[in-house]
Amino acid sequence: MAEGMTGLKRTSLCAEIDQAAFGREMTLMGWCHKQRNLGGLIFITLRDRSGEIQLLIDENCSDDLRAKATEVRSEYVIAVRGILQKRSAPNPDMPTGNVELLVQELRILNEAKTPPFYIEEAVDANETLRLKYRYLDLRRSDMQRKMMLRHRVAKLTRDFFDQAGFLEIETPMLTRSTPEGARDYLVPSRVFPGQFFALPQSPQQFKQLLMLAGYDRYMQIVRCFRDEDLRADRQPEFTQIDIEMTFVDPDDVMAINEDFLDSLLTELTGQTIKRPFLRLTYAEAMRRFGSDRPDLRFGMELKDVSDLLAGSEFKVFSGAIESGGCVQMIAVPGGATLSRREIDDLATYIKTYRAKGLAWLALEEPLRGPVARFIDEQTAAALIERADAKTGDLLLFVADERSVVLEALGQLRCEVARRQGLIDPGVLSLLWVTEFPLLEYDEDDQRFYATHHPFTSPMDEDIELLDTKPEHVRAKAYDIVLNGTEIGGGSIRIHNPSLQQKIFSLLGMEQEEAWRRFGYLLEAFQYGAPPHGGIAYGLDRMVMILSGSSSIRDVIAFPKVQTSACLMTGAPNMIDEKQLDELNLSIRSEPSDKGCDEHAT
Ligand code: AMO
Ligand code: AMP
Repeated sequence: MAEGMTGLKRTSLCAEIDQAAFGREMTLMGWCHKQRNLGGLIFITLRDRSGEIQLLIDENCSDDLRAKATEVRSEYVIAVRGILQKRSAPNPDMPTGNVELLVQELRILNEAKTPPFYIEEAVDANETLRLKYRYLDLRRSDMQRKMMLRHRVAKLTRDFFDQAGFLEIETPMLTRSTPEGARDYLVPSRVFPGQFFALPQSPQQFKQLLMLAGYDRYMQIVRCFRDEDLRADRQPEFTQIDIEMTFVDPDDVMAINEDFLDSLLTELTGQTIKRPFLRLTYAEAMRRFGSDRPDLRFGMELKDVSDLLAGSEFKVFSGAIESGGCVQMIAVPGGATLSRREIDDLATYIKTYRAKGLAWLALEEPLRGPVARFIDEQTAAALIERADAKTGDLLLFVADERSVVLEALGQLRCEVARRQGLIDPGVLSLLWVTEFPLLEYDEDDQRFYATHHPFTSPMDEDIELLDTKPEHVRAKAYDIVLNGTEIGGGSIRIHNPSLQQKIFSLLGMEQEEAWRRFGYLLEAFQYGAPPHGGIAYGLDRMVMILSGSSSIRDVIAFPKVQTSACLMTGAPNMIDEKQLDELNLSIRSEPSDKGCDEHAT
């Protein structure tokens, strides 16, 4: 039977007691983590958000109290009043391991069913179960720490930008489509049948309009919605730290953001962050690392060796070069010890990235590997020199079109680093990637797309190329990369209406369509638009990295799974006929009768 709290007032949280206050009476409330009945002594570990403390019910306690303590099971909610005392057998693994509460009164505030998994730091339950019972999963100390870290990041962020004169201004959630490149989530309007709001993919246009309105220095911690294929670092709804400033160039935006990241990361990790952050142009990042978000915590840079292998008798190499492609390599330190099987696994891994194969050369005496017989002494020496390699290393080669080689070797580089343990988890490696191409040509659709979004400004020196070689135009855009993850990106925006129109045309949007879609913005530009620019961070991704998590689901209280469904609430779900009628909607195909329990991960 559940009892009330009347007469009892919580005096402290379990792990926030004054540990020197022996002999003091206190009242604690929380969940029973576990109860152990050793005959004479009954121990209960009590848990709340702050942590755990041991409760002791000893031989001197009344029979009633002892009987009630024996009833307490895991996850029962209890209130206890007692005296803090020194623990006779301290537990060094517990922050409150030196003390315990000698219980004088115990009330069971609520009973609990046996949970479907143990509420423990290292949980072995599968993620589907954890997400279905997320409220239980969130009781685990590991999850609590992540939620607290997330709170700290948000708080430090607001404090920093407040100090720097930024205003937090909210922007609408029910709005028009924003072109960030994903599909929109749409919300039907009841008042305007057949018309839809879009949930924002980002507050991009609104923050630009705020700059037009004169609200220089805007920031917002804001939810964004994108209907796209989910991965470990993507969610359909995620949180941005969104920033916009007036009268700035890329260096101004980067400078204040270096101050921000420096103060945030120093505060959270105690590490000194190297300033200024390293900068690589997009072209250099692609050339050296095969990625526009290179992980610089390890080496193994890509080396183009087409010049050394052009005349090779190994047709895979010479053939690729003859048909306009290239051969590139990475050198794995100490990799000559990799087994045949391990190398085959790597070859399988890069097939996902369209590579047709992986050639290798173990730097031993004599050289070993399927291509060894095609490599003469002189070529071998040149390869070793270019790779800056030594005996015992392993050279891995991919031959193909340049884009395939870069992607495959860029991915392989990271995978090898993970598998070989070359990554120091304590290191924070930050860099800016700049000078992105403004436009990307899509061969299938035979048209250009904006690499970032259509409001991104071209670099001044490249504006002339818009008419002749649009694919060579670089943007005033910058991404910030932390340990190989793009945690943020931004740009200087176009504030000139005719330049904006030109970009829309290149994107296949003629004046009429541009005005139909973004008329309010184009019109606003005619009323005194200041130069402006900004950036947005993926807050979830930052917390994911800072907490050492491998998925952003771990740092979101109630995340969605791969199919974008919520396993706990069963959303999305069917709605009533009546609701459909009100919205003037009808469902075309036979609705799937997937119940909430059947939402697959
Ligand atoms: P962008 O589209 O690059 O820029 O987004 C900014 C940052 O948001 C994070 N992010 C995501 N995080 C989790 N799940 C997702 N689905 C997801 N998509 C993006 C990334 C990314 O770097 N309006 C522009 C910013 C600007 O130009 O100021 C924008 O949204 O960490
Ligand atoms: P094959 O002659 O196709 O049996 O390939 C001989 C070796 O070259 C194998 O180790 C293949 O993995 C490798 N190889 C095949 N295609 C490529 C390629 N495009 N780039 C690099 N290595 C390749």
